Amino acid sequence: MPSILITGGNRGLGFEFAKQYAADGWRVYAVCRDPSNASDLLRLAETREGLLEVLAST
Ligand SMILES: NC(=O)c1ccc[n+]([C@@H]2O[C@H](COP(=O)([O-])OP(=O)(O)OC[C@H]3O[C@@H](n4cnc5c(N)ncnc54)[C@H](OP(=O)(O)O)[C@@H]3O)[C@@H](O)[C@H]2O)c1
Repeated sequence: MPSILITGGNRGLGFEFAKQYAADGWRVYAVCRDPSNASDLLRLAETREGLLEVLAST
């Protein structure tokens, strides 16, 4: 399975890339500064369980 690490995954282009790569079956590591404040990304991780992991950059 191909994998990708995306910075700024909580919003904007990063979030859109995370969504689209996960939808295409990639293993996505989505990095953001404050995961506790990344509700859209965390919701997406729940729906893509096992495919999308949210990581804190700090
Ligand atoms: N949108 C476009 O059509 C477009 C076109 C061409 C180029 N770009 C460029 O592509 C980049 C992303 O665009 P975007 O529209 O996705 O922007 P955005 O919606 O403002 O998102 C920016 C992302 O970068 C993160 N970020 C900002 N400063 C950071 C820092 N110092 N350290 C770590 N993360 C940081 C933000 O995290 P936080 O939420 O924690 O702040 C957020 O996840 C920008 O540089 C923009 O100029 C965008």
